[in-house]
Amino acid sequence: MSKALDGVKILDFTHVQSGPTCTQLLAWFGADVIKVERAGEGDATRGQLRDIPGVDSLYFTMLNHNKRSITLDTKKPRGREVLDTLIKECDVLVENFAPGALDRMGITWEHIQKINPRMILASVKGFGPGPYEDCKVYENVAQCAGGSASTTGFDDGPPMVTGAQIGDSGTGLHLATGIIAALYQRTMTGRGQKVLAPMQDAVLNLCRVKLRDQQRLERTHTLHEYPQYPDGKFGDSVPRAGNSSGGGQPGSILKCKGWETDPNAYIYFITQAAVWPAVCKVIGEEDWIEDEAYKTPQARLLHLKPIFDRIEKWTMTKTKYEAMDILNKYDIPCGPILSMKEIAEEPALRATGTIVEVDHPTRGKYLTVGNPIKLSDSPTDVTRSPLLGEHTEEVLTQLGYSADDIAQMRQERVI
Ligand code: COA
Repeated sequence: MSKALDGVKILDFTHVQSGPTCTQLLAWFGADVIKVERAGEGDATRGQLRDIPGVDSLYFTMLNHNKRSITLDTKKPRGREVLDTLIKECDVLVENFAPGALDRMGITWEHIQKINPRMILASVKGFGPGPYEDCKVYENVAQCAGGSASTTGFDDGPPMVTGAQIGDSGTGLHLATGIIAALYQRTMTGRGQKVLAPMQDAVLNLCRVKLRDQQRLERTHTLHEYPQYPDGKFGDSVPRAGNSSGGGQPGSILKCKGWETDPNAYIYFITQAAVWPAVCKVIGEEDWIEDEAYKTPQARLLHLKPIFDRIEKWTMTKTKYEAMDILNKYDIPCGPILSMKEIAEEPALRATGTIVEVDHPTRGKYLTVGNPIKLSDSPTDVTRSPLLGEHTEEVLTQLGYSADDIAQMRQERVI
């Protein structure tokens, strides 16, 4: 079966997490992704957080599936020449170097347009134009600058970062969307363009609802669905809401049977307005259905703490899976707190290809997250990440370099 991005060639000049997330996704959609790595060293993540000495780390392997790897010293004239050949041949150059690094290599936008006007230049940077545009940025900096950390955590604690890599992988997803849009526009204009996804902007986009609440707070000086209401105080910016849903449907994380010893024996419970009578029935408080204090969503906002305390008395008598089974029968929205161990073992995620076992020549078998986006006419086959420079000769030969050229480049340590 054909793939959505068959025929699209990506010059993957990315490293660490944000850029590689983007190019991995494009590879899963069928693009030919050629990862250019520094000769002798490669992507720094190959050697970071290693669990097996001398073997590519899971950090690297899990972000670089379905790609080809070539080594190239782009600071040597011969390496620059090969890079130019790649720019002429490819449709998209994806990079996430520190600001200015590509220009210092001589790969300016003007240069790219001169040698390949159809090329799309896609970049991740920490910040867009402004006071921080020259800064190097990693995940947690983006979470802090994008509004996530100030709105995550509990009211009486410090700002908190989240385990979901919204700054790196989140920005990679944004960049991939921009690239696909630019490829589509190119089919009509014939021209490439620059695509920029700053990490601060991507995180802010994911925190959109908090900017919504900021403006509601400024108008009404309170946020009724936040845990600070009705007893606590609101300041002039959106507070941290703990585990409250913060949306139109109040929710909370509640203990389940076994919580004393199992750190993940919890369930997320949402008291959706439509199923309030069912909630009352399940927990044995049928009187609450007609009780004025609890009858309407508006009235319940004044009593969320006692309501969730009462529901928790019920969830503590059930395991999270028993509670799920009962609540699902009533269409009450809820979700178990799953550990990574439970997720890794989940048969349904294996069946859909979201958790995949991959075999690697030096590492052996390992688990990874496959393509979370399912296209009915473009299925994803996850193949292992390349060894450093595994495809150097293959790619250079395809670009028209002879065996003598390649031998000479090897001697000069260009590749
Ligand atoms: N051949 C020769 N030189 C190469 C090369 C190659 N194949 N590949 C990279 N280099 C050089 C670059 O030209 C640059 O050199 P210069 O600084 O002399 O111009 C150098 O390697 C290092 O690049 P840099 O991006 O500065 O790496 P770093 O390790 O110092 O910084 C980041 C890492 C992630 C902080 C930085 O790249 C960054 O801020 N990126 C943008 C935001 C981002 O994506 N962050 C999230 C990462 S998950």
